[in-house]
Amino acid sequence: MKKIGILTSGGDAPGMNDAIVAVTRAAAKKGMELIGFVRGYQGVLMQKSPEEDMIPLTVERELDIQGTPGTYLRTARCLEFIDPEVRREAAAKMRAQGIEALVVIGGDGSYQGAFGLHRLGFPVVGIPGTIDNDLAYTDQTLGFDSAVNSVITAVRDIRACSRAIDRMHIVECMGRHCGDISLYAAAATHAEAVVVPEHEWSVDELAERLKKQIAIGNYRSTVILAEGAWDSMVPFDLQAFEAEMKAKGVKFELDRGSVMHSDYLARILSIKCGMQTRATVLGYTQRGPVPTFRDSEFAFEAGNLAVDLLEKNVSGQAIGIRRGHVFHMDLEDALAYPRFFDKELYEMINTL
Ligand code: ADP
Ligand code: F6P
Repeated sequence: MKKIGILTSGGDAPGMNDAIVAVTRAAAKKGMELIGFVRGYQGVLMQKSPEEDMIPLTVERELDIQGTPGTYLRTARCLEFIDPEVRREAAAKMRAQGIEALVVIGGDGSYQGAFGLHRLGFPVVGIPGTIDNDLAYTDQTLGFDSAVNSVITAVRDIRACSRAIDRMHIVECMGRHCGDISLYAAAATHAEAVVVPEHEWSVDELAERLKKQIAIGNYRSTVILAEGAWDSMVPFDLQAFEAEMKAKGVKFELDRGSVMHSDYLARILSIKCGMQTRATVLGYTQRGPVPTFRDSEFAFEAGNLAVDLLEKNVSGQAIGIRRGHVFHMDLEDALAYPRFFDKELYEMINTL
């Protein structure tokens, strides 16, 4: 292959830039021309203009982005790409530019788009890039390790306060429908409780567990809560709780709507456990840290492998890492890989 393309798609993740650098260098070594598409599949569709949407990537240009968070190529969501006709149009546009294959860096959704191109006969290779770690075929997606480490740092900072002032704290993490960021950050920080979308939980049962901690002299529990865990929560009747508190003369108002969120949960736990509780939603801080060793190193190997595969005309592949070994497998099988949830770890954290 003489000319290939690359894009980043979906949520940005630390390590995406490292993967871009690795692909740029590997392509240059093999004498391939590399075109970076701006804003994911929007760029491939050249929704602005070929000049704006395509950046020739050279070794000189990539040097500044190695080891930086974010993505130099920008990222975006492009819902039109779900339509097979739009993907056909994208493949035709790339071919018209002389581009013979595409490296897609993204999560599950981006992989669906890549697989769609592959089925149209357009060669693709996927590098898993998302903080969520929701691609089951690989132990780790690019960005996951950096995100978990950023949560660990934040929890330690928050704990400095909760230790000083005897307060419990809820820390809400990202991850969409996957609880991995929360689960592993909770284990690494020895949090007293974790709630994730993969396991049903209830406010009352959580409060009981925290009360047990209080009873043994721990007034400063940390609860790590995955944003997706609102879907696995046993329904909690906020209005009924508000009415009950009003009748008892306890201050609790639904002043921020009638949908449960971390701040309400903190206030409810304060009342139920008799211990002040605060909440911090970490949000986008998890997407912006400098990539860790694990993410930068995986990106390096994945980028090199992606170019090797395309050089050998091996297409429709997803690159992953298992027990530290970087490998590739069919995209279709990767997408169908059964999800693993570490129930033992979950129970270990929640029974401590
Ligand atoms: P991620 O790749 O991180 O999972 P998204 O789910 O937002 O992020 O998907 C990113 C992009 O991938 C979407 O905006 C769309 O362009 C493309 N995509 C998502 N789902 C599909 C699908 N079923 N078929 C084709 N393309 C898809
Ligand atoms: O997929 C990465 C992620 O950060 C998820 O953890 C989160 O649910 C989502 O993206 C947020 O999406 P947006 O950037 O559109 O707010």
